[in-house]
Amino acid sequence: MVAYKSKMVERIRLPSREQRERNLEAAGYNLFNLSSEEVFVDLLTDSGTGAMSDAQWAALIRGDESYAGSRSFEELEEAVADVMGFSNVVPTHQGRGAENVLYGALLSAGDVVPNNTHFDTTRAHISNQDADPVDCPIDVAHDPDAEEPFKGNFSLERARAVVEEHGAERIPVVVQTITNNSAAGQAVSVENTRKVREFADEIDATFVIDACRFAENAYFVSQREEEFADASIADIAREQLGYADALVMSGKKDGLVNAGGFVATDDDALFEQCKQRAILYEGFPTYGGMAGRDVAAMAVGLREAVEDAYLEDRIEQVREFGAQLAAVGVPVYTPTSGHAVYVDAGELFPHLDAEEFPGQVLACELYREGGVRGVELGSFAFPDTDRPELVRLAVPRRTYHREHFDHVVETAEAVLEKRETVSGLQLASDPVMPEIRHFTAELEPVPSSQ
Ligand code: F0G
Repeated sequence: MVAYKSKMVERIRLPSREQRERNLEAAGYNLFNLSSEEVFVDLLTDSGTGAMSDAQWAALIRGDESYAGSRSFEELEEAVADVMGFSNVVPTHQGRGAENVLYGALLSAGDVVPNNTHFDTTRAHISNQDADPVDCPIDVAHDPDAEEPFKGNFSLERARAVVEEHGAERIPVVVQTITNNSAAGQAVSVENTRKVREFADEIDATFVIDACRFAENAYFVSQREEEFADASIADIAREQLGYADALVMSGKKDGLVNAGGFVATDDDALFEQCKQRAILYEGFPTYGGMAGRDVAAMAVGLREAVEDAYLEDRIEQVREFGAQLAAVGVPVYTPTSGHAVYVDAGELFPHLDAEEFPGQVLACELYREGGVRGVELGSFAFPDTDRPELVRLAVPRRTYHREHFDHVVETAEAVLEKRETVSGLQLASDPVMPEIRHFTAELEPVPSSQ
């Protein structure tokens, strides 16, 4: 059921078809190169793109900008303790700042780090410590059609194979990402989190939870895990996070703010180490790279994120969007995640090979037909992997309404109608860092063979 009404609005415009064609070409068929004013419905990411509540805006005005000992920081400490159950917090400018602080404290060269699936920045920060990030998803994670409730789970079987290969002493950290963004945003069960805790104990490793979308995950647990059918979302979230030794958090997701993040832990020694690194890379540990007002807004956002009415509105909106797309024949990954609908472009364009980037073609066609911006997460973003050719249509929190989604669905229908006639794309530039080429690389249409 809808839980919000608007108090402030932002004008959006649909550029004409001719403008969209020109914009696409000028952007090198890479939607990261578009100006936001050229986009009508922006589903590039759910990160930092949501609307804050009136209570958060009020907190912003009361934010305490003191360099040390800010009252806003105390509010954040209280919120993290109440909502997530951790007593020590180190604020950072966003999630990847928290990754740098925590993984720099925990890892040394040659270490190996299993995760259900590493998000791009997690992988990069672990590699940056000369350690080796290893993905341990369960088998069905990359099957867009399997109807299982917790496709985001961590595979203990794969992790044990990693221990066998490298030895437990080389694995000081085990990570679980909830929800599993890089595996179509799929949910993780509390039972699985408990097993990862046991596994970390067995090999004497620190257990880290990447908690970016912890509240959305807790909602799925309440719907899908029998043991928690009668538990409140807030209790589920605390229980699941409570198995970890430390959290890395991007406040731009379930902190319901536009900027911010933190590390949280009950381990006092680790906390001290993180504070030292935070001073080096982020700022004094009571603001850590955030303005005091943003810290204050995040403290309120964390509490709002676990409210039943918010989560019902949020998850139901994304689910319905996915169902609408499926109803007109768009192949969507099931079940729908909490933050995005993932479309299987490989199935949509069977005539395009992976080298012709079917996902990027779909992303561009959605822009061409309706000014909609999504993001490719297939062969263009992840070269040399055998992932499905997905396009993520991420839903900013508390931002868009039914009419916006109707427009995206009509746009997708227009793409479906011409699906057999669209041609592929090829790289037109060669970025220096292939792992992050999808942010900057330019493309061009593959010349037709006639
Ligand atoms: N971990 C996960 C699971 C994420 O999804 C992200 C960000 C981060 C860490 C890093 O957080 O952006 O605050 O530095 N995901 C965004 C996305 C960018 O679009 O999925 P950050």
